[in-house]
Formats: sequence, C-alpha cells, structure tokens
Amino acid sequence: MRHFRHWRLLSLAAALVAAVALPAAAAPQYWLDPAGPVAAMQGRLFLLTLGIMLFVFVTVGGMLVYTLLRFRERRAAEKTVTKGGTVVRRETAAASEDDLPPQIEGSHKLEVVWTLIPFVLLLIMAVPTVRLSFALAADPGEDALEVRVVGHQWWWEFEYPELGIVTGNELRIPVGRPVKLTIVTDDVIHKFWVPKLAGKMDAIPGRTNRMWLQADEPGVYWGQCAEMCGTHHANMRLRVVALPAAEFDTWVVNWGRGPVVENEAQLAAVERGRQVFETRACFACHTVEGTTAQGQVGPNLTDLGVRHTLGAGIMENTPENLARWIDDPQAIKPGSLMPRVGLTPDELRDVVAFLSALR
Ligand code: CUA
Repeated sequence: MRHFRHWRLLSLAAALVAAVALPAAAAPQYWLDPAGPVAAMQGRLFLLTLGIMLFVFVTVGGMLVYTLLRFRERRAAEKTVTKGGTVVRRETAAASEDDLPPQIEGSHKLEVVWTLIPFVLLLIMAVPTVRLSFALAADPGEDALEVRVVGHQWWWEFEYPELGIVTGNELRIPVGRPVKLTIVTDDVIHKFWVPKLAGKMDAIPGRTNRMWLQADEPGVYWGQCAEMCGTHHANMRLRVVALPAAEFDTWVVNWGRGPVVENEAQLAAVERGRQVFETRACFACHTVEGTTAQGQVGPNLTDLGVRHTLGAGIMENTPENLARWIDDPQAIKPGSLMPRVGLTPDELRDVVAFLSALR
C-alpha cells in the first residue's frame, strides 16, 4: 500500500515536470534552446549551477528524510505481566538513555567535511561565473554591428549609427555576426530580452547599459520587455530578424528608398497615401525617410512594409490589421500614445497602401 502511494506521488511529480517542461521547449521564448553563443554560454552556466544545486538538494533532503524515518521514536515494546495464567497488567517500558542514537558533539572531522564540500561546490560555480561575466563584458570583436536600443512606453526603437538607419520593434541583424547593443530608455525602466539569443538587460533612465548577442541561424527570434513598465508591459514585444549577410545588406541598401509599387494603380494610391501621411496627424509623430514626415514621438516607419508585426508585436502585419490599427489604435492598445486620427475610409485605404509599400 505504501509503495503504491509512493508511485502515485512520483508519477504526479513526473506529470507536473512534463506539463511545464514540454510546452516550454517548443515555445518561441524558451531560453534553454539557445540560437547564439551568448545564450548558449549562459544556458550552460545555468545548467551547471542547477545541477550542483539539485545535487545539494537531493543529498541534504535525502539525508534528512532518511534520518527522520530511521531514527524516529518507536513505541517501546509492551510487556505483559501475568500471574498464574491471567494477565495482570500491561507495562510499557519507558524510553531510556540507552535507546538514543550516539550523541556526537563538536566532531572536527564532520565540521571540516561540511565546510569543505560547500566551499568546493561554490568554487566550481564561481570560476565559470566570473569567467563568463568577463567574456560577456568584453568587446565581441572588430566586425560587430552597433545598435542603440531605446525603450519607450510601449515599443522598441533600434538605431544603427554606422548605417544611418532607425527602425522599430524589429531588430534586423546579419547571421553569424556579433551585435553590440547600447541599451537606454526614453521614459521608465524597461528590460530588453530575447531569450534564445541572450539574457536580459535593463534599460534604466540616465544610464547606458551594454550587451551583445549573435544569431547563428537565420530566423525570427521573439523578444519581450521583461520589466514591469505600465499598462502594456506585456504588449511591449519585439522580434529579432536574423538574415543571411546578403539579405541584410539588401535591407540596408533599400532602407529609405521609398515605396515599392507593382503597377500604375498602386502607384497612384501610394502617392495619395503619402500625401495623407504628410498632411494629416501622422507626420507629427512618425518619420518616413524621403518624405516631409520627420516626427520623433512614435516608431520610425521607413521600412514598415517588411516588418512581421504591428503595435510592438501584438498582431501580424497585414493590410487589414494595419487599417484596423490606424483607424482606432486605442481600441487595440488602450493608453498607447497613438491617437485616433479620424481618417476617411478612402484616406485610410491610401495610407495603408503607402505604408505597406515601404519595403
Ligand atoms: Cu517595457 Cu515592460
């Protein structure tokens, strides 16, 4: 019966672990599935530390449980006193000094052992921790790409000072090349986190923090603000788009070259959309390179057409969603700085045509 209960407990624990670990492994922000050297190094250090802590937990916990069970007080044997075949009384022998396990006090051998073991374990953790801290603080190399990350309530701005590029919510990087990030904030504390590429880094008012990351494979890596920063903290997401070098260069060259159209009809709509953008409220907050719109409040929209998502990762970038977003941003992200501009349906359609063609 007791064995059966143990098995039930064990399988319950296993089911719990599986319920947590399996979906996590498939999740786009699962941080123990690294896609670059920084996340890989940090993951290895975490697993080493976790391993040591599990060893300590199991050893100490096991010894405790063993001691509790093995040396628990047992009821002393009952002695039956009889006289002439009839039971007179039952006596219970009181626990005597002799029943106690050996009482050890001030054992030098034990003291040395349980001081030495934690010391060695801490040393095993300390050496790689210090080494990794220095490795991550070091310059990742001459060819590193520099990006300035600015946290805003509630979106991310990415500036490439060497390339003269500014974009939002989607960090485009070349595969296999280290990217040096300078992390600052425009308002409150945020935290830049792309779990598969690197650990978290704070964006703190009045401070500049630095980190680097690198993607080993092309792909889209999900990120998330990891510091409570207000209403839409959860909707302050980002994507890192790692591109093969040639594709990255194409993006750099095309950035700011204006809309791409396929036919005359589209060209006319895009042209009308540009005029709406430059004359209605849009230009006051947003920049589109090559137009008179040079606002600095909201995300730079120069390459909006190539982005995967809108509103800092809250929905897919499709013409329908873009129209919905522009028409009533407060319905989708209440409290966002983007107001309802009140465009006519025609204006809305043209602005969407213009922005979608920016690629
Ligand atoms: Cu920004 Cu949370």
